[in-house]
Amino acid sequence: MPKAKPSRALAAVVMAAGESKRFKSKTPKVLHDLCGRPILAPILDTVAALKPTHSVVVVGRNADAVQQAAAQLSKQPLTFAKQEKLLGTADAARTADEALATFQGDVVILPGDTPLVTTKTLKALIAYHRSQKAAVTVLTATLDNPTGYGRIVRSKSGLDRIVEQTDATTTERAIQEINGGIYVFDRAALRSALTKVERANKQKEFYLTDVIAILKEKGEKVIAKTAPDPNEVLGINDRAQLAHVTALLRQRTNATLMAKGVTITDPTQTYIDPTVKVGPDTVIHAPAYLEGTTVIGEGCEIGPGARITDSRIDDGARVIFSVLDDAKVGQNATVGPYAYLRPGARLAKNAKVGSFVEVKASEIGEGSKVPHLSYIGDAVIGRDVNVGAATVTVNYDPETKIKAKTVIGDGAKIGSDTMLIAPVKVGKRAVTGAGSVVTKDVPAETVVVGNPARQLRKRKKGDE
Ligand code: UD1
Ligand code: CA
Repeated sequence: MPKAKPSRALAAVVMAAGESKRFKSKTPKVLHDLCGRPILAPILDTVAALKPTHSVVVVGRNADAVQQAAAQLSKQPLTFAKQEKLLGTADAARTADEALATFQGDVVILPGDTPLVTTKTLKALIAYHRSQKAAVTVLTATLDNPTGYGRIVRSKSGLDRIVEQTDATTTERAIQEINGGIYVFDRAALRSALTKVERANKQKEFYLTDVIAILKEKGEKVIAKTAPDPNEVLGINDRAQLAHVTALLRQRTNATLMAKGVTITDPTQTYIDPTVKVGPDTVIHAPAYLEGTTVIGEGCEIGPGARITDSRIDDGARVIFSVLDDAKVGQNATVGPYAYLRPGARLAKNAKVGSFVEVKASEIGEGSKVPHLSYIGDAVIGRDVNVGAATVTVNYDPETKIKAKTVIGDGAKIGSDTMLIAPVKVGKRAVTGAGSVVTKDVPAETVVVGNPARQLRKRKKGDE
């Protein structure tokens, strides 16, 4: 076997120091939410997938916040380079270059505001750059509306230079081929060209884009590659662009799920974070919001009307017009219409939580039902329990500020309008009468009534 050629080393740089003036926000732009995660998150994922030997994030404005978030989001270790003054993208690249020390090889540079670019496109860009032995390869796209982007100026000899919108002539502004802001550089070529960049432009900034003309004049190989989908290079400079990119990412997520066998009846009104997993043959009716770490099984029916965050829904379950947050819904269980499952709500197989029911930090056992108008908090409910309408687990004592537990045994029947004053236990197959206020534990197989509830009788053999 011939020895594999040693591949060139790769470093990645993400520029995230910018002022984000057009965002008009106290929060750094790259930390604004895009389908459930900061704008920066998918970019860091893409960078990690390239497995670079060095990954540098350039920080500046709100450096601490960006650095902290990036370190937490990244699947690989990052080096942070602080840009003291925000003098432009060439200055950002120079700051990153210093952090690369003695690195030799190729450097892929990305802006922190272009989250739709895919690993596949970047890999193809790097491969093309290497096959052409170029000094720089620029990722470009042709846009119907190129406003705001740097324009790609070509001549017979190929790519010549990039001109920024503010510095472009009317003729140049008519060019629809734009700079995606993503480049692969030979590190040595980048380093030498950066020393020659000047601020002779309308914005008095050091433009990284000037490096193209500088390298070309030096006789270096300067090339461009078109992104397969122009949307991949859309940058987010203002909130209108954020909304546009959000819609595109949502479409991408929905398309991926539909290709995997999920029915989405109206994708335009279905908002699924890319982090959510949904099994095949699940039907999602709009409007639906599926967020965070939510995992939905096979053959479920979700919506119409659902906001499900960080929850797990097992196969065959149904959720209609309900809000779920950090909840678990077992196989074939049903939720809603109009239920609220708060953190720690755990519904076992075949359980039912119906209309106007709120559940918090409680287990509802297999086959048990809480069909109407109830509050269940800090409770453990066994199997095949029926909880009548308007039942409340009175779990909070305002004097002691203690939240206490309610435990209900298998097969118990809680009559309508029962107040369960916790801590309290209702034994197996016990029954509470309508309107009882249960202040003491109820022994198994007994029937209690009244306020405070007292024993009426033992349950008889053959009692339903
Ligand atoms: C830049 C390009 C433009 C390209 C577009 C693609 C330049 C001069 N222009 O314009 O040709 O079409 O991206 O989206 O490069 N940043 C820093 N430090 C700075 C300045 C910027 O880290 O001093 C970061 C920003 O946080 C941002 C990225 O660099 O993530 C790009 O800066 P931005 O101001 O958004 O450049 P554009 O005007 O979009
Ligand atoms: Ca930008």
